[in-house]
Amino acid sequence: MVYPTQLREAQMALVRTLTDRDQDDFGPALPSGLRELYDGNLGFPESPAERPFVIANFVSTLDGVVSYEIKGQSGGSTVSGSDTADGFIMGLLRASADAIIVGARTAQEASPESLWIPEYTYPDAKLLFREYRVNVLRKPEYPILVVVSGSGRLELERAIFRTPGVRTAVITTPAGSDVLVKAGATKLPSVQIHALDAKCGRMAPMEMLQLLYAQHGVRTLLHEGGPTLFGQFLAAEAVDELFLTLSPQIAGRKEDTIRPGLVQGEEFMPDRAPGFQLLSVKQRAEHLYLRYGRTADHSSDGAE
Ligand SMILES: NC(=O)c1ccc[n+]([C@@H]2O[C@H](COP(=O)([O-])OP(=O)(O)OC[C@H]3O[C@@H](n4cnc5c(N)ncnc54)[C@H](OP(=O)(O)O)[C@@H]3O)[C@@H](O)[C@H]2O)c1
Repeated sequence: MVYPTQLREAQMALVRTLTDRDQDDFGPALPSGLRELYDGNLGFPESPAERPFVIANFVSTLDGVVSYEIKGQSGGSTVSGSDTADGFIMGLLRASADAIIVGARTAQEASPESLWIPEYTYPDAKLLFREYRVNVLRKPEYPILVVVSGSGRLELERAIFRTPGVRTAVITTPAGSDVLVKAGATKLPSVQIHALDAKCGRMAPMEMLQLLYAQHGVRTLLHEGGPTLFGQFLAAEAVDELFLTLSPQIAGRKEDTIRPGLVQGEEFMPDRAPGFQLLSVKQRAEHLYLRYGRTADHSSDGAE
């Protein structure tokens, strides 16, 4: 029987906790198998106001690059070096969330069979993730995937639109909705399309959050990028936590190459730059796994 072997194999710490300053025990505790793998507990507070609590997850090189922007090698797994613990933490965050939001480029640059479900990035903990979601958090087996696309030009043959049990919501503009309807998206049983008004082709992050809160009951939302969508959420003060894996490599940039950092398309003045406090630091070999919480004021300590 496979079940006990998988559970037993999962009982080894994947990461070592160096600092954990999050003293608040929010929500139910992680089941012991996940707590051992993560070397600690993980929980999130209630969502503030009438919107979901938003946690973001990225992996970056030491020099701040999140995508090499090379065809077939533009994703996070190239940046992390297919790091096992990064995959586990991504799976654990997915298991904790009601929904996961991604920009259209992130969705479409992944391989066509990619799924934004917990075990996709760490299959060994599939049963542990399911036990945690279904029995402890009382959530459906999989989080909803939310794809943001103003144009509505999405490749509907992708697995995210056609896998039974995996629900996908597309947030788009009225024009994008027309494009999707013409392409047959409304005939796909697990796909739901929401149209929001947009300024210059862009919907507002707060309106997306309110829609997910009111229409899908989303209380914890995992933001998986990319930098364009994430930058808008930061600028709208709609990010509560950031999980950042620091990968021990340097990508570099030339003047004419685009190798984005965490944020693309937005910039902040020093006195308005979003500030964070360090909540936990975990380590495995040369990788660091950082957890930050947004601070109320813009810089973390006001230092020059
Ligand atoms: N290292 C990591 O952790 C990590 C994480 C995520 C992504 N990535 C990488 O980052 C790259 C993609 O990032 P990206 O910044 O170029 O793209 P992105 O943010 O994933 O997607 C941008 C697209 O999303 C839609 N969009 C974004 N904001 C919108 C808004 N307010 N209203 C309407 N539509 C909106 C638009 O789609 P339409 O053009 O359809 O209108 C836009 O072209 C990929 O290479 C990906 O692999 C890396």
